Amino acid sequence: MARLLVALVCAYLTTTVGASLRLELSRLEAKASSLATVRRAIAPVRWRQGWHVTEYRIGDPPQPVQSIIDVGSGLVWTQSATCPPRCISQDLDCYNPDRSRSAHSVPCDNRTLCAAAHAGRCTGHNAACTIMAKNGAEGIELWDLAGDLGVDVFTFGSEKVTIAFGRMREIKLFKPEILGGASGVIGLGKGPLSLVSQLGHTKFSYCFTEDVNATSHLVIGSSAVLGDGPVTSIPFVVNPSEEPYNTLYYVPLIGLSVGNVRLAIPTAAFNMRRASPWLWTGGTIIDSCIETMFLVDVAYKALRQEVARQMDSSLLPTTSEWPEYCVDRWDVGAVPPLVLHFGDGADLVLPATNYWMPLADDRTCMVVYSSAERNTTLPMNETTVIGSYMQQDMHVLYDIGKGEISFQAAHCSSM
Ligand SMILES: *[C@@H]1O[C@H](CO)[C@@H](O)[C@H](O)[C@H]1NC(C)=O
Ligand SMILES: *[C@@H]1O[C@H](CO)[C@@H](O)[C@H](O)[C@H]1NC(C)=O
Ligand SMILES: *[C@@H]1O[C@H](CO)[C@@H](O)[C@H](O)[C@H]1NC(C)=O
Ligand SMILES: *[C@@H]1O[C@H](CO)[C@@H](O)[C@H](O)[C@H]1NC(C)=O
Repeated sequence: MARLLVALVCAYLTTTVGASLRLELSRLEAKASSLATVRRAIAPVRWRQGWHVTEYRIGDPPQPVQSIIDVGSGLVWTQSATCPPRCISQDLDCYNPDRSRSAHSVPCDNRTLCAAAHAGRCTGHNAACTIMAKNGAEGIELWDLAGDLGVDVFTFGSEKVTIAFGRMREIKLFKPEILGGASGVIGLGKGPLSLVSQLGHTKFSYCFTEDVNATSHLVIGSSAVLGDGPVTSIPFVVNPSEEPYNTLYYVPLIGLSVGNVRLAIPTAAFNMRRASPWLWTGGTIIDSCIETMFLVDVAYKALRQEVARQMDSSLLPTTSEWPEYCVDRWDVGAVPPLVLHFGDGADLVLPATNYWMPLADDRTCMVVYSSAERNTTLPMNETTVIGSYMQQDMHVLYDIGKGEISFQAAHCSSM
């Protein structure tokens, strides 16, 4: 059960504090922050305690780091050696800029980089570019961060590239296990400081598996391509221009089926809407550091009703409030697929093993929940989130240039 309690919302991670006037970053500005273009970046990905973690090296000489892949945020950050005792235990030594010949601080009057990080007030020429970030969903905060923006050389395999990133020295955690031994987060959202933007690319792919012994790969650049065979492509929804919504990957979910029974959910239930001048809610996002799926409440109610109707005789009595539905693990073959219907006619079929998870006591349980569960508040309580478990054993390609995401069934433990 512990694994279910791990990640709830990384997507709202980089809601920065203290930036009242947001810059609206156009593509052009996003390009301007790119420090260099590398041919491609390939990094190994492993599964660790609820997270998909990738490895690369920072500095000269290179220091290894392990970062959680987060498509829901737009900043790359790592704990920095100046942070103990206020940081989280990690398996590797903290990155230490003093031991890197290529490390530099970004001054706060660097308009290109510091402004893109939405840092706080600039206190003078040559002052550090301070970053403070937290996940903004009240009641389910994961962590608060403080640090400064630096640049250093990142090494991916044989490729080297200079990247701007957060060097965090103060981290307040709301759940102790939260980083799972990793050193930080690699933001792959649409923002100008995300890794994909800084590498000067518009494509990346990954292939998640929860096989602890397997290594798959994160590929950024034009060599991020799918193989032969059927592909489901879904266009991204145009983002709101406000932070942090401008960095998320929204997809046009309009309906669900359990097996071949289409659920009666009004399409409008999935719409994005502006709840207040700086707050958007609703919509459907793809995330990589939330493991499970959250459905807007009305859709969740329709799903649970239909699952109960179709699965009635195999459902086991549950003692906890969630997960609500479990079956004996040998009965998972009888669970119908969950089909996600998208606005342009695409259907993404999630087999039972992509939405029912083996848990304790020989049980397999449905890991789809209501967004409104646990009394969360706006914006998360009305937003649908497709988490990493739903994307397992699929090769997933983000093509930001073309404005679409594609899924292809794959054996990720051998990619
Ligand atoms: C901002 O910092 C980067 C990295 O050090 C540098 O390449 C760029 O020229 C700086 N820009 C300005 C406007 O100072
Ligand atoms: C992973 O490898 C270890 C050591 O070889 C083995 O004991 C374990 O059963 C493997 N786990 C899985 C899920 O294959
Ligand atoms: C949610 O709020 C309701 C009403 O205030 C309360 O009865 C319930 O216990 C809360 N649930 C959780 C999980 O906190
Ligand atoms: C979401 O939370 C807001 C308060 O932030 C509340 O007014 C609204 O009713 C909630 N929506 C749902 C579906 O629970």
